[in-house]
Amino acid sequence: MIISIDGPSGAGKSTLGKMIAKELGLLYLDTGAMYRAVGLAVLEAGIGPEDTDSVVKVVRNTKIELKEIAGELRIFLNDIDVSDQVRKAEIGQIASIVSSIPEVRRILVEKQRKIGLSSEKGCVLDGRDIGTVVFPDADFKFFLTANPETRARRRYEENLQRGITTTYEETLAEIKERDIRDTSREDSPLRIPKGAILIDTSEMGLKEVFERMLEIIRKKTSTSRI
Ligand code: DC
Repeated sequence: MIISIDGPSGAGKSTLGKMIAKELGLLYLDTGAMYRAVGLAVLEAGIGPEDTDSVVKVVRNTKIELKEIAGELRIFLNDIDVSDQVRKAEIGQIASIVSSIPEVRRILVEKQRKIGLSSEKGCVLDGRDIGTVVFPDADFKFFLTANPETRARRRYEENLQRGITTTYEETLAEIKERDIRDTSREDSPLRIPKGAILIDTSEMGLKEVFERMLEIIRKKTSTSRI
């Protein structure tokens, strides 16, 4: 079973993706972490994210792996665990720029399909193009969204908990900037996939969204074991 969760930053995709995967015993794949790992690799290589040829070279020569450690998915760049480092806002911005390069997307999409299909019971993937490009035939497609202010507030609180110092205003500006970039790029822009279930989480608590998603999945798979 493949479940896709797309939507803008801060809509709750990764938190809910993890919860759904755990509940159903599926693998969880945070595709944004892969683009962030590329962003970090580019930063470490000292090249500009707009220098397409150099970025592609870096991606081709970089080992990006996801490993489950103590029940948590961690991202590795050339065998180094960079899961915490990639969460920085600066890396999110670089990831957003390099994710508009078609060759970068091609390489990562191929990896994502491989990981998704290799999971025995199935996989929950979250990102921007999962239901449109990576798995257009996913069994369930969700599109989570929320207004920019709500998303910025959530991201800001999440950053505080992670010890990342920013202001709410900075976070909101970054979210808006990323929204524009992610929806306007030519290759695989953020779109609501055909047949996706749209959930606006602005006025909803996490548990409420989780239960709604689960109810939708269970209704359709009530004859199966899940
Ligand atoms: O979900 P996130 O904030 O960790 O994603 C970081 C960036 O990566 C985001 O600005 C857009 C890009 N991205 C993408 O283009 N396609 C995906 N499937 C996932 C993320």
